Amino acid sequence: MHIETTRERKEKRLRQRAKAIWFTGLSGSGKTTLGTRLEQSLSNQGFLIQLLDGDVIRAGINNNLGFSVVDRTENIRRVAEVNRLFIDCGIITINCFISPTVEIRELAKRIIGETDFLEIYLDSSLEVCEQRDVKGLYSKARKGLIPEFTGITSPYEIPLNPFLRLDTATDTKDYNSEILINTLISKIKY
Ligand code: ADX
Repeated sequence: MHIETTRERKEKRLRQRAKAIWFTGLSGSGKTTLGTRLEQSLSNQGFLIQLLDGDVIRAGINNNLGFSVVDRTENIRRVAEVNRLFIDCGIITINCFISPTVEIRELAKRIIGETDFLEIYLDSSLEVCEQRDVKGLYSKARKGLIPEFTGITSPYEIPLNPFLRLDTATDTKDYNSEILINTLISKIKY
């Protein structure tokens, strides 16, 4: 006999399967833009979603952390633990964090659990992100005003085997949003 877990009971009530949708990519690769669009689209379809975004998390619960490898690792460790809480409550999360190294993403995957962790690499070259420079941070980093800036003075390691890779340098937001929905829906529908 299968005894229903509290998570399963909550997923049944919400009519969805909880997953951690995990965007990784350089600053300016489109994590927040695509994450917000995905949140809206899935919410419109009746899913219960929690968006977790680096800039927001770092202004709140992680406001004591900087950008050394140690602090980035702690940032992601805490966020991964928060993910576990949401997932145990049946809630789908969308995560927008640079999460720059293989090791940091492995840590997140280990905490969240391999089957619940859907890694999505937003692939846009440093040249394109730097040229767009939406927040003006690359130009500051080049002037030496921001130390340990990802892609400039701090590493970004490309995911080797992501669940999904999107080209955010050349493909449009509409196109990438459609691919995202089509790929994710079978993972989260009840
Ligand atoms: S992570 O490396 O720890 O995953 P996270 O996604 O939370 O990073 O935060 C990245 C955001 O912080 C960037 O989008 C940018 O707005 C801001 N930021 C400030 N300083 C840095 C820096 N040195 N490197 C990268 N991003 C920075």
